[in-house]
Amino acid sequence: MQNQPLSPVPPMGWNSWNTFYDQISEELICETADAMADKGLLSAGYEYLIIDDCWSMRERDQQGNLTADPEKFPHGMKYVADYVHAKGFKLGLYACCGVRTCAGYPGSFEHEFQDAAQFAEWGVDYLKYDNCHRPASIPSEILCRRMGMALRNCGRDILFAVCQWGTENVREWIRSTGAQTFRSTVDIQDSWKSIEKIALSRIEHPCSAPGCFDDMDILVAGMYGRGMNPETSMGGCTEEEYRTHFALWATLGSPLMIGCDVRTMPEEILALLTNRDLLSIHQDPECGSCYKAAVYGNPDAFVLVKPLRGGDYALGFFNFSDVPANLTLNFWDLGLSAVSGRGLRFHDCLSNQDPGIFTEQFSVKLPSHGCGVYRCQVVGL
Ligand code: GLA
Repeated sequence: MQNQPLSPVPPMGWNSWNTFYDQISEELICETADAMADKGLLSAGYEYLIIDDCWSMRERDQQGNLTADPEKFPHGMKYVADYVHAKGFKLGLYACCGVRTCAGYPGSFEHEFQDAAQFAEWGVDYLKYDNCHRPASIPSEILCRRMGMALRNCGRDILFAVCQWGTENVREWIRSTGAQTFRSTVDIQDSWKSIEKIALSRIEHPCSAPGCFDDMDILVAGMYGRGMNPETSMGGCTEEEYRTHFALWATLGSPLMIGCDVRTMPEEILALLTNRDLLSIHQDPECGSCYKAAVYGNPDAFVLVKPLRGGDYALGFFNFSDVPANLTLNFWDLGLSAVSGRGLRFHDCLSNQDPGIFTEQFSVKLPSHGCGVYRCQVVGL
């Protein structure tokens, strides 16, 4: 077992829930692994394949073990783990701290050590741990510590990804559970309203930091309203809105779990999800915390500023209003005054262009729900 965090930077991968709901199978997971390897998603860093809720039998077996549903996973879970490992991926599985999972399958309450041992035996590398059907008298903190302890003693490195929707002051105690990611919001839906709501609530709590990352939920980019999940599939978003969604998740350092069908994803979504400049901001080894800088005269627009390794900064300009907007950032608000004799050299991450060196301020015109993301270097004038 290693002593380092299993994911020193926010993890990346794919999760079955948003698009496939309970329609999951060995075939789907293996085909997704093949498609992700073929399309360059694995080499871009998307390494976890996560099977969400609805994978098990409706009841435990006579020894109290969880078993994979043989209709969905005819060769069992170890076979799936071996398949994805052979392709270079890691396998994620879903469990829940209550007596039942959110979809009504057996939960891990009072079976924590038994389940952790089972997951280790199958070769699981990541556990998403949900929050439904909990005994009301036991705090989330205790239930998460239980599974955290079981995982730390199961004989295999398994990344612990807690999903309790940001309740019970989770930010104050989550690191004590051994979790390396924690869901901080309600479930995402395939709509701009949902993206906006999650982003705004996340920006209120700038707490993601090395070792434990604030999870804004599975990406909806590329779903275009086509998911089978009635809880997450709404009308879909525009390409512009998906771009802004991905830029927000990347800049804020959320885990990036693809939620669309990668086998049939459109080219523009593949290009977005593999945008090298955005991913290098996301995977920056310092995992710096973002702050929000104001743009004057527009309450629905803002800039996110993220310090990067080596003295660079990521600047994300976001227009949440329903009309196009001109956004101006004064460098004074970043700590860069005119007398410093320094300016910022901008690289546009979305267009891969270099607009040059700017002093004192930078302005950009953005469409409604649009964004501009830049890597900036501090330079002498
Ligand atoms: C909860 C979680 C979702 C998903 C479902 C599965 O709602 O927040 O991400 O895992 O349960 O039932």
